[in-house]
Amino acid sequence: MTSIEPVQMDLFSCVPDGSREHHDPQSRDHPRETLRRLLSDDLEFHGEDTGYATHNFHAFPARFPPQLPRKFISYLTQPGEIVLDPMAGSGTTVVEAMILGRYGIGVDIDPLAISLASVKTTPIDPGEIIRIARPIFQNAIAALHHERNTLREAFEAYFDSDTKKFIDYWFREDTQLELFCIAREIKAISDATLRRFFQIALSSIIITKSGGVSMAYDLAHTRPHKKEGKIPRSAIEEFQKRLKKNVKTIAKLNNLKGKGTILCSDAQAVSLRDDSIDLIVTSPPYASNAIDYMRAHKFSLVWFGYNIGSLSKKRSDYIGGERIRNSPAYALPEYTEYIISQLGDRDLKKAHVLRRYYSEMYLCLSEMYRVLKPKRTAVVVVGSSTMRGVNIEAGRCLAEIGQNVGFDLVGIGQRRLDRDRRMMPAGIGGNSRSRIEERMHKEYVLGFCKLK
Ligand SMILES: C[S@@+](CC[C@H](N)C(=O)[O-])C[C@H]1O[C@@H](n2cnc3c(N)ncnc32)[C@H](O)[C@@H]1O
Repeated sequence: MTSIEPVQMDLFSCVPDGSREHHDPQSRDHPRETLRRLLSDDLEFHGEDTGYATHNFHAFPARFPPQLPRKFISYLTQPGEIVLDPMAGSGTTVVEAMILGRYGIGVDIDPLAISLASVKTTPIDPGEIIRIARPIFQNAIAALHHERNTLREAFEAYFDSDTKKFIDYWFREDTQLELFCIAREIKAISDATLRRFFQIALSSIIITKSGGVSMAYDLAHTRPHKKEGKIPRSAIEEFQKRLKKNVKTIAKLNNLKGKGTILCSDAQAVSLRDDSIDLIVTSPPYASNAIDYMRAHKFSLVWFGYNIGSLSKKRSDYIGGERIRNSPAYALPEYTEYIISQLGDRDLKKAHVLRRYYSEMYLCLSEMYRVLKPKRTAVVVVGSSTMRGVNIEAGRCLAEIGQNVGFDLVGIGQRRLDRDRRMMPAGIGGNSRSRIEERMHKEYVLGFCKLK
């Protein structure tokens, strides 16, 4: 039996050949054995096309190559079964589940990730998008040409002083007005699905490797720095180009048999029933905010009505945040405690941050265990990193924590990162041997099974 229906093959004819795998008839009965075998396969996928389907809608740091979730979903589930990613980011797992005729569920707390993953997995009538796009451009261009003073006044009144300061620092005056009037038109769209579609197209011209229409550079790597002398392109023109591209792609989502749902929820307490999920494929954030999503995402969220103050506050909700909380300190498993104590010998504050990370991941893994059906599997992809020179051994510690919450550890695969593709923070100023780069070159693929 093939895992991909003919209609889906036609839809995503650009899907790499290697991913048109045949479903292993044994996998339904022995997912544990299938997972063990998959973990020893090549999991790198370097050089493969990662921009097919809706995957190229928007940059997102540390996203999966789509072939990674695709491989596990193809072999470890049947069409119609439910695949969960509790830290879904840009929704790669959910998109792949849909392409493969499964039901994908994505969970995240980041407002941009939720919008992006929703847009990438929600079919829309392209005719509606085109119908709405026309007046958006007409009104925006008219306001820019004929009502500039009124527009400027509305702009000044809209943002609070901190948000305005941020915008003034990172965006040129012309761009500010362009973005403001496009965002204002988008805000007036009454249908939430359509509104989100336009917002994500707008966001994708800001959050790019080159900083898009902002004055920043390296936004896609969450390491923005200002590039003096940069002359950004016209936001209206870039937005128009982007919309055209996205409309073509979204039209094809309507043909998919699979379905997707994106939930705004904390992965430490998801509102899903016990024993309801057939497969989990996920990758948690790095410890100690090594990839700070909000640092880049605020560049577009400010245009959607968020203010800088509330966005900064939200950062502490992310797993791996730097702020130490007064929550009860859990006793973690032995090796994890040992790593935390090693770090504590060098920097006590950082050791608390690491304890917070592993404690939060303890709760996430407990939730994964709770919602997974018995005899089914979970795949957790985790990056290695160092804090104050101590290797925090996230692979080994999360494997230990997974076992502690009840999982059987089936195996640990490894993959080297394709730096160009997974969008890790690059060395600023081209310093390719920067410490941040050195500590993020490898990932561990932890395979778990819920035995009963
Ligand atoms: C490494 S990224 C996932 C990337 C994803 N695999 C992809 O392909 O796009 C980790 C995600 O975890 C999310 N996250 C952080 N804290 C969370 C929490 N408490 N609950 C749910 N998601 C969270 C972040 O917002 C981020 O989107």
